[in-house]
Amino acid sequence: MAFIIAIDGPAAAGKGTLARKLSDHYGLPHLDTGLTYRATAKALLDAGKPLDDEAIAAEMAGAIDLGWLDRSVLSAHEIGEAASKVAAMPAVRVALVAAQRRFAETGKGAVLDGRDIGTVVCPDAAVKLYVTADPELRARRRFDEIIARGEAADFDRIFEDVKIRDARDMGRADSPLRPADDAHLLDTSKMGIEAAFQAARAIIDARSDH
Ligand code: C5P
Repeated sequence: MAFIIAIDGPAAAGKGTLARKLSDHYGLPHLDTGLTYRATAKALLDAGKPLDDEAIAAEMAGAIDLGWLDRSVLSAHEIGEAASKVAAMPAVRVALVAAQRRFAETGKGAVLDGRDIGTVVCPDAAVKLYVTADPELRARRRFDEIIARGEAADFDRIFEDVKIRDARDMGRADSPLRPADDAHLLDTSKMGIEAAFQAARAIIDARSDH
């Protein structure tokens, strides 16, 4: 059976950084599943289609090629907002979850990060991590990233967006963001991302099957 590391958590908690570090360390391929929702949203925006037509959105989702997910293009704020709307539609999730499971189950193992990996996509994952952090600190990290890129940012707006995104992701009926019952909680506001990486390694290394 493939050795799957499932990482979930809200936006800007540090799960992407943690997933990339674990992927490098264990030599496992990594899929940022948020990019699949972002790519679907971008395809709709580019085609001038509405974001709330489930049939069209599901068709776009079914055509997403996991080999062509470009983070630099998909990381734009408006695409993230549109992605969290598109992600509330069950038919979109069915199409993307199927592709994500194929990725997870091909080869010796994989690291996947998102919102529903431990609960829906890979409920039998070997290790489940739920990475969280205080919302204000997550907004601060986002703000600092944007400023570091030399762009303008408004902290209050970013903080507001973090809260809206959390409410949408945690409140939706289909696959809401929540820790799986058997997930290990890592709070990066208390421990920082490097310490979270060390804690995750200790959890993974304690298993004999990786
Ligand atoms: O993580 P990221 O910000 O790239 O995700 C964008 C949006 O995609 C999230 O706000 C969430 O609504 C959705 N998403 C999801 N399930 C996942 C990954 C992302 O619903 N597994």
